[in-house]
Amino acid sequence: MGQVLRFDYDGLIQETRVHSSVYTDQRVLDDEMDQIFRKGWVFVCHASEIPGSGDYVRRQLGRDPVFAIRATDGTVSVIENRCAHRGNIICVEEKGTRKALVCQYHGWAYDTKGTLIDVPHPEGFKADFTCSSLKRMPKVEEYRGFIFGSFNDDVPPLSEHLGRASELIDRAVEMSPTQELDLSGGWVKHLVGCNWKMMPENDTDGYHVSFVHPSFAEAIRSNYDSAVLESEEDTKSESKAWGGGHTELYFAPAYDRELEWFGCKEDRYPAYTKAMKAAYGDKLGGEKLVEGPPHAVIFPNLFLGEMNIVMFQPVSVTECLHLHTPMMLGGVDTEVNSRIVRQSEGAMGPTGFLLADDSVIAERTQNALEGNGGWLDLARGMHREFVDDNGITTSHLTDETPNREFWRHYKSVMLAE
Ligand code: FES
Ligand SMILES: [Fe+2]
Repeated sequence: MGQVLRFDYDGLIQETRVHSSVYTDQRVLDDEMDQIFRKGWVFVCHASEIPGSGDYVRRQLGRDPVFAIRATDGTVSVIENRCAHRGNIICVEEKGTRKALVCQYHGWAYDTKGTLIDVPHPEGFKADFTCSSLKRMPKVEEYRGFIFGSFNDDVPPLSEHLGRASELIDRAVEMSPTQELDLSGGWVKHLVGCNWKMMPENDTDGYHVSFVHPSFAEAIRSNYDSAVLESEEDTKSESKAWGGGHTELYFAPAYDRELEWFGCKEDRYPAYTKAMKAAYGDKLGGEKLVEGPPHAVIFPNLFLGEMNIVMFQPVSVTECLHLHTPMMLGGVDTEVNSRIVRQSEGAMGPTGFLLADDSVIAERTQNALEGNGGWLDLARGMHREFVDDNGITTSHLTDETPNREFWRHYKSVMLAE
């Protein structure tokens, strides 16, 4: 027997419009917890957050608290953060290092793979001892340092979930001359008063940028402006649908020279540009330095936000957490990574420009949609979409191609058996 869905996804998500109840209906969130966050792949953490044996980080995946931990043999397990005895949380701190995990309630101890290794006062359990180990996420796969997991034993391989969008992760990783990212800077958490789906949708919405963020462009006065703030005819940047719900804003066509995306002159970090060309060759290294990092959402909960990595975490129908960390690079001077951290603070930090602006808009939209919010339009740019040389559906930066991709895939996931 198929699953019982609580909502008319077929009727209320259409090609050019979605009904506002997808953002406001508790039944939708309940279905998402199963269909998206348990049956599919979700981003969990990055390998650089847990480099050593016993290193762990806590995460919340849908309704399930988990932690990702590296065992002595170097493998990473994602383990449900609930004691097998009576369910107390095992890892309390956000991150740390442990040789063994001991429950603070009655002292049961587990190794770094979640196997039960000690039970205090064992005599009491003699009759029919049913103790078990912690529950591990059955599927965990890593792609170039990005660790994904699924609670679904039968989930297709990660490579299928990522599809062509693995190229977006490649592009992020290859901003480093050593192909190493360092995501150990810590995550800044913002609680935003909107349904979680507004975050991935907004992050690859190129239409809002010049209206919501002019103060940002003015303050930084970088060439970023030309990538996002030109008139409609002059805009060269593009929006893209990579399939599988993965979406992108592609700014590279607006960049003419190396490091323009970094908001500085091409000769500002000579050791970095030299290392990139030494690593990838003059031609490809130079192209990477012009193209810059991806600005792309990997469905459902990961945003490669240029030099920031972002996770989305639903909290309730009307609230979500936005967590971001700077995407520091391996094999570069501390000067380069310092700039990355400062830019991350400026864009997304508590006193930053972009996230504060976006959050206000998202909260206003959420509030406006309560009651009978009616239909939301997603038709912009349908007449001018095309398939680019790389085989990816592409349109003008300001077109709703990414939103349509998000909803098309979302609907297929929500209706899947
Ligand atoms: S709940 Fe963990 S030891 Fe009892
Ligand atoms: Fe924005």
